[in-house]
Amino acid sequence: MSNSAAVKAPVTGPKLPPNATRLPQTQQLDALLTIIRDKETPRSDFIFYSDRIIRLLVEEGLNHLPTLEKTVMTPTGLPYKGVSFQGRICGVSILRAGEAMEAGLRECCRSVRIGKILIQRDEETAQPKLFYAKLPEDIAERWVLLLDPMLATGGSALRAIEVLIQHGVKPERILFLNLIASPEGLDNMYRNFPQVRVISGWVDEKLDEKSYIIPGLGDYGDRYYSG
Ligand code: PRP
Ligand code: URA
Repeated sequence: MSNSAAVKAPVTGPKLPPNATRLPQTQQLDALLTIIRDKETPRSDFIFYSDRIIRLLVEEGLNHLPTLEKTVMTPTGLPYKGVSFQGRICGVSILRAGEAMEAGLRECCRSVRIGKILIQRDEETAQPKLFYAKLPEDIAERWVLLLDPMLATGGSALRAIEVLIQHGVKPERILFLNLIASPEGLDNMYRNFPQVRVISGWVDEKLDEKSYIIPGLGDYGDRYYSG
């Protein structure tokens, strides 16, 4: 039973740019997102349920990596013609909030290399400011899973991608994982970096006058780290 009075994003959602995909828009995903969007949700539940969505995003991101044919022998004595991942990966989190996605990546890819880029949005102008970047030395040879839960104007993600490109990463080897995106942010990404693949949990309606995603979930970093 659903409450018809509640405002709810249509499951069909807006038309996405060609470089963008969403997770399958299941009732389960919607239920998880409903919990973390709820302003009454306590911090411990916010962490637990957003970690579940992050795990889904990482698994979907790994679906986009190339594979090579590989045959193994099974205990029945017969060969199985399967595949293995081709190429190495690393995660890069956009701090602070993106750090919350690192554990989900580690659960799927043990001992994965992680880089960090500290970018903060100016509270008044929403312009991103880059403070710090520390990336694996061989990042130019890796596929990069770029991690940030929120894609609002896209300014922070674009700045982070510029840093990755300056370090030799090819845009077509970047997969940007986020929980909630705005249509404006997705368009901005596509206009600037059409080769970067963007994987979102959900695409919301629009940005408000302060460049927050609506209906959104508020400030992700504040809710995850300080409740
Ligand atoms: C938030 C969020 C993104 C950015 C999205 O971070 O985690 O990095 O804003 O907005 P944009 O698409 O308009 O750039 P914020 O700068 O608030 O810092 P935080 O991670 O410390 O919360
Ligand atoms: N950052 C957030 O955490 N939420 C938004 O809606 C926009 C930027």
